[in-house]
Amino acid sequence: MSDEQPPVPQIARTRRVGPLEYRSIEGPLSAAVIGRVADLNEGLFGFGETATQLAGFFESRRRLLLCLALHNGDLVGFKVGFEAQPRTFESWRGGVHEEARRNGVARELMRMQHVWCQEEGFQVIKTTTSSDNVPMLIVNLQSGFEIVGSFVNRHKRLKILQEKWLVTSS
Ligand SMILES: CC(C)(COP(=O)(O)OP(=O)(O)OC[C@H]1O[C@@H](n2cnc3c(N)ncnc32)[C@H](O)[C@@H]1OP(=O)(O)O)[C@@H](O)C(=O)NCCC(=O)NCCS
Repeated sequence: MSDEQPPVPQIARTRRVGPLEYRSIEGPLSAAVIGRVADLNEGLFGFGETATQLAGFFESRRRLLLCLALHNGDLVGFKVGFEAQPRTFESWRGGVHEEARRNGVARELMRMQHVWCQEEGFQVIKTTTSSDNVPMLIVNLQSGFEIVGSFVNRHKRLKILQEKWLVTSS
């Protein structure tokens, strides 16, 4: 066995709400976890992103936080973000399996992410959402995000920029 062991993912927090278990994991992430996220990510978005591609993307980010929702052990939701700049966190992507929606899963994943960001000293959380993604925009607004701008991306889609400023003690 080599001296260099793969880093063990650090589980920051676990929370149970009825049949749902929520976990937040600070990077680096294990291949098994990334594989499960890649499957759900593909089912939700269909972008053709492989687990290997996602792993490379996650490894290139600093201070990554992955929040997961499990129903009887099955992954039904995830939310992932990372440090974009010092004290600025970018909430990058998330989603909830169709059959698990409208149960507060996205709201709880976001709450976990925001608590962690606050505890870790981040000042602001930023996120970008397509203008036609009304459910995500609503969850963001309900969770304290404000709309701060918009742009048209290279696929000619209107994107909405949202920010949430966190109250810090320092
Ligand atoms: C957006 C998404 C993550 C919301 O997940 P969810 O777990 O169903 O959301 P929640 O149950 O936490 O919703 C919280 C509140 O947001 C609002 N909301 C959520 N989905 C809504 C919808 N389709 N229509 C209207 N309001 C909605 C409601 O007020 C809801 O509270 P309520 O159910 O008590 O009325 C989910 O629809 C999804 O995975 N979409 C596809 C992936 C995606 O677009 N991800 C975002 C881009 S990265």
